[in-house]
Amino acid sequence: MQTIIEPFRIKSVEPLRHTTLEQREGFLREAGYNLFGIRARNILIDLLTDSGTSAMSTEQWASLMRGDESYAGSDSFYRLRRVADDLTGFRHMLPTHQGRAAERILFTVLCKPGHVVPSNTHFDTTRANIEFTGAKAVDLPIPEAADTQLRLDFKGNMDVTALEALIAREGAAHIPLVMLTVTNNSGGGQPVSMANIEAVSRLSRGHGITFYLDACRFAENAWFIREREPGYADWAPKRIAQKMFSFADGCTFSAKKDAFANIGGFLSTNDDRLALLENNLLILTEGFPTYGGLAGRDLDAIATGLEEVLEPDYLRYRIASTGYLGRHIADHGVPIVEPPGGHAIYIDAGRMLTHIPPSQFPGQALAVELYRHAGIRSVEIGSFMFGDAAQHELLRLAIPRRVYTQSHIDYVVEAILEVNARKSAIRGLEIVEEQPFLRHFTARLRPVTAGATR
Ligand code: F0G
Repeated sequence: MQTIIEPFRIKSVEPLRHTTLEQREGFLREAGYNLFGIRARNILIDLLTDSGTSAMSTEQWASLMRGDESYAGSDSFYRLRRVADDLTGFRHMLPTHQGRAAERILFTVLCKPGHVVPSNTHFDTTRANIEFTGAKAVDLPIPEAADTQLRLDFKGNMDVTALEALIAREGAAHIPLVMLTVTNNSGGGQPVSMANIEAVSRLSRGHGITFYLDACRFAENAWFIREREPGYADWAPKRIAQKMFSFADGCTFSAKKDAFANIGGFLSTNDDRLALLENNLLILTEGFPTYGGLAGRDLDAIATGLEEVLEPDYLRYRIASTGYLGRHIADHGVPIVEPPGGHAIYIDAGRMLTHIPPSQFPGQALAVELYRHAGIRSVEIGSFMFGDAAQHELLRLAIPRRVYTQSHIDYVVEAILEVNARKSAIRGLEIVEEQPFLRHFTARLRPVTAGATR
């Protein structure tokens, strides 16, 4: 059979609410054309993020009931530890309430002013947590990643030559760790090859530098390796993931992605001394080491999710369904970041809306139009999010795990193609009110009036 089906059936459903065009135009005005300000009940299909939005399985719901809420020594902690140990092989696992809590603890312990932390591409919370310590976060993606149209198997890779040059320039003593984000979220959800993980690990460790994975989407990355990297076609995804982790000295992990959990994360390390320092901080702000920032039931659901996410039927469907959305819009003329990533499709709004300059936020204008037209929420990743530091004007359509069916995705395809057909009518936006730090979440905008100077 050629048809790749959703490898689950649905036991519990949540109704979706349709709204009218007039209602949506009203909601947009009220929200200042910022989709973070729209109430979720007024969204039909929510592609804002794949984080914390997964549908849990029957086994995960059963795990919630089994959750042991003991303050110390919870069975659920030991269950998660066993699953995480088996997968990652790291000596210590500290549960945190989400990925960025793991990041904050790690960087607080390892980084200080004068330090530099390279990555293929840091996620924004990772970068912010590094820079909050006074250290500098540096992105070293392969140069080919700058071309959104280029189709490469492992476009999420790090530029190893650039890393070597950075180590020579800065000195290993100023680089407390090197990171690889798998998959590379900010770089279009693109995978990193096993060869690249190994090369970055060898170079870093060769200089005595610790090497970490930001492992949020490790399972999706493992599937891409299985499909695209010679030698892995008959490996189980779990074995590939184990090999990925074997090159690292530790990881940060958000269980809100590849563990199907609505909340949670962990921080792992092989370093006993580091684990001690991290545990002290954990107790200070997250909680006792056998629950971190989580309820026992969350720990249990994460343990179950970590096992389910590596099932081949799930990963085959997951990567195919993201690719389905990507191909159906790209093959009909909508420029996307090629090739489709694992958890999201990124429309190149700068390329699509050539009449809207970056200063009028083409990605945000497209996000607003997609909501106005069809009730679909997406997120801008461009000049509105990053200001002058933006490298592209993108719109991300992130796919929650196990939540939407093919007919939902067909609806999204139809909506995007309709918007594309009359794209020249889309107007740019200007900011009318903003807070310097949290602009993306709180700024209010308005459509630029016709004839305004650009
Ligand atoms: N690292 C990566 C690669 C991420 O994508 C995220 C979150 C984090 C770290 C932080 O994890 O949210 O649990 O604190 N990404 C979400 C997104 C928010 O929409 O891409 P967190």
